[in-house]
Amino acid sequence: MLAKIRFVLWGLVAAAVGLALGLFVLNDSITAPDGAGRSGLLGGPFSLTRSDGATFTDRDLADAPYAMFFGFTHCPEVCPTTLYEMSGWIDAMGADADRMKFVFVTVDPERDTPELLADYVDSFSDKVIALTGSVEAIDQMKKLYRVYAAKVPLEDGDYTMDHTASVYLMDAKGDFVGTVAFGEGSETAVEKLRKLVGAASGA
Ligand code: NI
Repeated sequence: MLAKIRFVLWGLVAAAVGLALGLFVLNDSITAPDGAGRSGLLGGPFSLTRSDGATFTDRDLADAPYAMFFGFTHCPEVCPTTLYEMSGWIDAMGADADRMKFVFVTVDPERDTPELLADYVDSFSDKVIALTGSVEAIDQMKKLYRVYAAKVPLEDGDYTMDHTASVYLMDAKGDFVGTVAFGEGSETAVEKLRKLVGAASGA
């Protein structure tokens, strides 16, 4: 009799463990849509060129969180503003800023050579990594991060670009965790970044 009860109890334990594992797997697939990187919904393998000419790939972003945004050096407002704000966030974070990476990816690879990117980004902060590449590689990058960018012709025959203005926040696993919107207050932005690197808010 006792053996039979024990048998039933172990059966219940096994069922509970099975259920928990099942829920875990199910939960993973449910949370995947806001996640990315590893879940393959945002981010992924890429190979681009850093402003100093070195190759920079997704592997260089592994194991640390990062903030990434897309723009172009001829941008009249959004990009210089974002870069200016970003350099302010980096200063405000102090040593915590070294626990993550800051990345600027051009959506205008035809004009943004590594040299031009270096001059441009370094005037804001030496901690922002600037990336360019072939038109194909940048197109692929835009797809990976679901970024919108399109040329808008100007009257003088030149062009400007419309582009996604949000800064993407990615965790150390390469999963998308949120954004800093254009014009979002500096305090909120820094709070989000501190949270991203696992630092206590306001510490
Ligand atoms: Ni811009």
